[in-house]
Amino acid sequence: MELHEKIPNNVNLSADPKLKRALEKWQPNYVDWWMDMGPEGFQRDDVYLRTAISVEPGGWAHYDYVKMPEYRWGIFLTPGEADRKIGFGDNEGKPAWQEVPGEMRTQLRRLIVTQGDTEPASVEQQRLLGKTAPSNFDLRNLFQVNVEEGRHLWAMVYLLHSYFGRDGREEAEDLLRRRSGDQDKPRILGAFNEPCDDWLNFFMFTMFTDRDGKYQLLALAESGFDPLSRTTKFMLTEEAFHMSVGETGVGRIVERTAALMREHGDNVRDHGGIDLPTIQKYLNFWVSASTDLFGGEVSTNAAQYFATGVKGRNRENGYDEHKCLDSYYTMELVKDSKIVKEEIPMRNAMNEILRDDYLADCQRGVTRWNKILEDAGLSDRLTMPHRRFHRQIGAYGDHHFNPDGGLISEEQMSKGRDSWLPSERDRAYIKSLMYAVDEPGKIANWIAAPKSGVKGKPFEFEYVRRD
Ligand SMILES: [Fe+2]
Ligand SMILES: [Fe+2]
Repeated sequence: MELHEKIPNNVNLSADPKLKRALEKWQPNYVDWWMDMGPEGFQRDDVYLRTAISVEPGGWAHYDYVKMPEYRWGIFLTPGEADRKIGFGDNEGKPAWQEVPGEMRTQLRRLIVTQGDTEPASVEQQRLLGKTAPSNFDLRNLFQVNVEEGRHLWAMVYLLHSYFGRDGREEAEDLLRRRSGDQDKPRILGAFNEPCDDWLNFFMFTMFTDRDGKYQLLALAESGFDPLSRTTKFMLTEEAFHMSVGETGVGRIVERTAALMREHGDNVRDHGGIDLPTIQKYLNFWVSASTDLFGGEVSTNAAQYFATGVKGRNRENGYDEHKCLDSYYTMELVKDSKIVKEEIPMRNAMNEILRDDYLADCQRGVTRWNKILEDAGLSDRLTMPHRRFHRQIGAYGDHHFNPDGGLISEEQMSKGRDSWLPSERDRAYIKSLMYAVDEPGKIANWIAAPKSGVKGKPFEFEYVRRD
């Protein structure tokens, strides 16, 4: 079979010899990477997966059993709008770019590489999780997320190969060379070097870190570089599932915990469940790590991305004004050991504006988790930590804050740490709960079964058939 027949696409790959040649070199290295760093121990099994096969809203995905190394990673762009115009910044109203403008080449390459790097990184972070999946259904969902993150890497590599010539090809190779958590060649962003080695971590990661991905993709979908806009729009259709895995995963843990609390009171751990304070600590950790991914609060890079038109705001057409030259954003910053309000030129606050939308979206999910507690007749609630809590970068990274956002000393932080963030003991406890539940229809003790299965199939369906 020829390469272009193996790769589902709507970029007319068979008629693009340059791209074909580039992918012919890259694809074997990608498969090597997948065998090396993809899900360990499951590469020969049949997994019931969806594969993107077109861009038709009703029929874009095909579901069937497939062995993961034979997954057909495709290249899809949402169809272009005729005469699309740039929607914001200094170039507002000019025709969108179909090629990379010379002066924006560095910026665009950096954005594409940074986005692309997160995709294989998450596969690496999650590669051991299959060994401890709480059910056959969850095992399949993990692999669905993994293969789609692989496809998102393809999406970014397509842009690098098609629009960035030789340095694009080198960047595409480097995306396969870096490794999550590696001392010498780590992945680019912090949260993507954190281990994600238990299922509470996994569900929190897909809830909060994949949601950062959603907001980055929404901002890039506004890009004046039309191929980037169209690629990211299609990625968003897959991303929605990743976040639903996270939200329903944590929701099912909360449901199980609530049931144990009703039966046994707060002593959930004695009955093999995950207590609410531990869930809250993991939530605090992943929200803070994911909040960092938006970058500095006051950012000249972000201002430039907006000015040139390479990266916009989330749903730019929901705003009345798209230049943002004479407006200000009120930000709370630390001056002389106090939190003070400052007016920041709007363009310099673009990271923060995107973070606002992200945090509001996260809060909606937490509110739905609290509804589960409420429906169980419990008064306990989960809360979002303040955006300043436990930050490693940006305006708050050099200071310490409690989960309510109050400025505290380093000493107070060390004192509070184990009650705000997962301690070694918490992590060891969660690890002790992790074991594989292989038999279809069975579920681990610490999580509730889902309300429904995949694509109309019941929870009891054999989603992963072991070799
Ligand atoms: Fe992704
Ligand atoms: Fe994702």
